[in-house]
Amino acid sequence: MTEGVWAAPGRVNLIGEHTDYNDGLVLPFALPHTVVATAARRSDGVLRLRSANEPGGAVELRVRDLAPGHGPRGWTDYPAGVHWALSTAGHRLGGADLSFESAVPAGAGLSSSAALEVATALALNDLYGLGLDRPGLALLCRRAENEYVGAPVGIMDQTASACCTAGHALYLDTRDLSRRPIPLDPGAHGLTLLVVDTRVRHAHSGGEYAGRRAGCEAAAVALGVPALRDIGPAGLPDALERLPDPRARALVRHVVTENARVERVADALVSGALPAVGPLLTESHTSLRDDFRVSCPELDLVVESSLVAGALGARMTGGGFGGSAIVLTESVGAEAVTAAVESAFASASYEPPVIFAAKASEGARRLA
Ligand code: GLA
Repeated sequence: MTEGVWAAPGRVNLIGEHTDYNDGLVLPFALPHTVVATAARRSDGVLRLRSANEPGGAVELRVRDLAPGHGPRGWTDYPAGVHWALSTAGHRLGGADLSFESAVPAGAGLSSSAALEVATALALNDLYGLGLDRPGLALLCRRAENEYVGAPVGIMDQTASACCTAGHALYLDTRDLSRRPIPLDPGAHGLTLLVVDTRVRHAHSGGEYAGRRAGCEAAAVALGVPALRDIGPAGLPDALERLPDPRARALVRHVVTENARVERVADALVSGALPAVGPLLTESHTSLRDDFRVSCPELDLVVESSLVAGALGARMTGGGFGGSAIVLTESVGAEAVTAAVESAFASASYEPPVIFAAKASEGARRLA
């Protein structure tokens, strides 16, 4: 028996990359692609998980046995981790049947994991009348991912999936979690924002992501600040001088300049100066490629080939090491940009990319 149906979207991050675990600024928006969860309570203390996207049928777990590191390692860790995080936070909830169907491409840098977590959290919140608000659910989803799944991610993706609104990007200050919706409608300005999934797959439980995060935290300690967020553009030259290690200097330079770019993109969106966003996207990519070193040849090729074809700007989006890039182009040039990226990929003998126009969509919601 079904008691309800919930949907939570994947996201694209417009700008503000690798800033969220530095207490910094981010500007994501929700995709129309969602994870749909069909759910019902169970009275026998069993969490029964099924996904139309995963082979192998249903997995049954006893809720009282859920603990980090004790589950089967795989996709079920995300919903099981959310149940664990809710219970660990003191909420009373029993078992559930949860069936998922995802239209968010996995490993594409579009937050399929956060969508799965938020769909689970919203379903359990409603089914058990927990009364948590969206930002509260996002925090528990991050806890599930950090502690149960073991991926040291920040708060951006879960908040984007839980809190975004249609037609807007979400300006999020990850220090105090204040949020502001900012209108994002490229079409109204004759522009198109393309998402290019390189189909190079990545995972953030791997060492590279954790290594960047640890590098940022060590640099903050060396500089005597709580987080790199506390270094503003004016303090950057001095901070760089005080760090002997060139790799630490590069991490700091990225985070500080990226936070400033988020502000500038937000200002451009608010004042309707959308084309001005393009060069800031490209600057972000250069910084992620050269200073933060989280790009890859396929992402770089999207950026290079789209700019040559006349795009206004482009950058990798999400954690990097594969996944997707975004490209801002005049709508009249979108076909030429798409063709140029496809042909560059073919010439390099890369897998054909998947390209679609992004539309800022609704955050998580109950469907039935
Ligand atoms: C992943 C993480 C986010 C964020 C981005 C990089 O998507 O889940 O928390 O750190 O990488 O900006």
